[in-house]
Amino acid sequence: MKRTVVFNWKMNPANLKEAEKIFNSYVKSSAGDDFIVAPPFVFIKPLFDLIKQHHYKNVRIASQDVSFEEDGLLTGEISAKMLKSLGVSHVIVGHSERRYKLGESNEQVAKKMEVCQKNKLTPILCVGERERVGLDEAKEFVIGQLKNNLSGFAGNSLVVAYEPVWSIGGGKSANPDRANQVVLAIKQLLAKKKGFKSEVLYGGSVDCDNLDDFVKYSSVDGFLVGSAGLDSEKIKEIFKKI
Ligand code: PGA
Repeated sequence: MKRTVVFNWKMNPANLKEAEKIFNSYVKSSAGDDFIVAPPFVFIKPLFDLIKQHHYKNVRIASQDVSFEEDGLLTGEISAKMLKSLGVSHVIVGHSERRYKLGESNEQVAKKMEVCQKNKLTPILCVGERERVGLDEAKEFVIGQLKNNLSGFAGNSLVVAYEPVWSIGGGKSANPDRANQVVLAIKQLLAKKKGFKSEVLYGGSVDCDNLDDFVKYSSVDGFLVGSAGLDSEKIKEIFKKI
């Protein structure tokens, strides 16, 4: 079974030449399989130019964020309409780095979900507990976050990425069985919300070395990959294993 894979570049790489190099390694390693890449805003248009030039059909572009306002006077913000006009299909919403390093609130996240819905962009909503806590506590936290962030969402397509915050960027992925239990709890909640298609991904130090352990669980629909997605050797392995 081929899973969804989203590569989150965060604030990388430093220039367009590098961005094109990484992107080309995805195209090569994917051998036509679908993937989603979330580059920094400034690389979105040049990557679309490459996609059009080469008629790539298996690539979709996500943005790493969107403004919670539809338009108006907000220096530095990027609106959903702007993203839509470029051809962006997905938006990462509520990534923990935005929530905890940049102070994004649950209310802002919920508004961003609504903005995505109005503009027919599929949100990739990131949720996850901050500290290593017991399984029940982790589930409770994540379900609470989801209920809050989805309170005004009535879109027809949603991706949720379960990313325990402590596992991000540090090489310490969550225990796969435990992650699967949280994924199942998320799916149980989403099943009650009718009328939209959803997928649940795992993210947090996903790498070619631990991917097999997660792939065993059929409920995990795919992966949100950060650091490993910037390394061309790892990229090859990741595409082989998903
Ligand atoms: P990581 O990042 O794979 O480097 O842990 C994942 C993410 O932040 O989405």
